[in-house]
Amino acid sequence: MIASEMALRKPTGKIGTPRREKDEVELVQGVTDSRADGSPILIRIANGDTDGSKYMRFYDTPRPGHADLPALLKFPDHDLRGSGQFSGRLTAAIVAAGAIAKQVIAGDGISVDAFSRSIGDVTDDLPRTAEDARSSRGFATRACDADLDDRMRACIESAGADDDSVGGVVECMVSGLPIGFGGIWFEALDAELAKAMFGIPACKGVEFGDGFRLGSMRGSQSNDGYRFKDGRIVTDSNHQGGVVGGLCDGAPVVFRTVFKATPSIGRAQDTVNLRTEANDTVEVTGRHDPCIVPRAVAVVEAMAALTIADQIARGYR
Ligand SMILES: Cc1cc2nc3c(=O)[nH]c(=O)nc-3n(C[C@H](O)[C@H](O)[C@H](O)COP(=O)(O)O)c2cc1C
Repeated sequence: MIASEMALRKPTGKIGTPRREKDEVELVQGVTDSRADGSPILIRIANGDTDGSKYMRFYDTPRPGHADLPALLKFPDHDLRGSGQFSGRLTAAIVAAGAIAKQVIAGDGISVDAFSRSIGDVTDDLPRTAEDARSSRGFATRACDADLDDRMRACIESAGADDDSVGGVVECMVSGLPIGFGGIWFEALDAELAKAMFGIPACKGVEFGDGFRLGSMRGSQSNDGYRFKDGRIVTDSNHQGGVVGGLCDGAPVVFRTVFKATPSIGRAQDTVNLRTEANDTVEVTGRHDPCIVPRAVAVVEAMAALTIADQIARGYR
């Protein structure tokens, strides 16, 4: 289970970084005969394919869009190789831990499924179900169908060929949460999920349900009516994204996370030279993802599963 989730975060073909990250997980402790044995689970993921040399120039000329400048000024001993603690590489650990969280929440009938809603100017306009999202596991871009996969792939490859990068939107659905699941104020279900998503490098926004479109809708349009169906209370639409007052209203929790275009690009960018204290430019020659989105889908799922497992552990059921 952990290995199959890790495979979804791996870079593929021309749409990911040429770094060959094996992402093999070693269960050092806490798992015996494929079952948790009660001691803390310790996972080791070796980082084999590294080349710190490409990052040395960023000590003088920090990359725009990456964390180099504020990190160097805040932490004078900041280790820039591989981008240090700001590297997307660190999301490997999140996906491994998330694979365990997914198994924990599955015990309560809760599942988390995400897919690429858009990449660059290619947008999936169809309403999508959790089943559609699961089918995205068969496509490199994490699109829901082959046609979108082709178009999203072409969009990423054309940006890469231009020494440029693209961003996009990941949509995630949490299914099976009971009515009332969540907390209030800082522990609100949407607040906790949003905070976790903003912890993912390159996430720049999160919206629930109809999100920012709710600002131009009337209450009569955006309220989700309640009905009895087969003895259960259900909503007849899902504009709120399954959360009201920080608590689940019984509908699937649906949110979207926007990822910006990868900051490291081959084109010359304006920057400052911290050594000469003059204006300068920087071009990134290392191995980077022309688009983060396809790999971020697995990270969003993992972060959401960890957040839900955490809320269960804290008694917010
Ligand atoms: C899976 C993943 C892979 C990433 N790969 C790269 C990369 O190859 N090059 C890069 O410049 N940024 C990459 N990032 C994004 C940076 O880590 C991120 O933009 C940077 O830390 C600045 O943080 P911010 O964008 O959240 O402000 C990646 C992010 C994720 C989630």
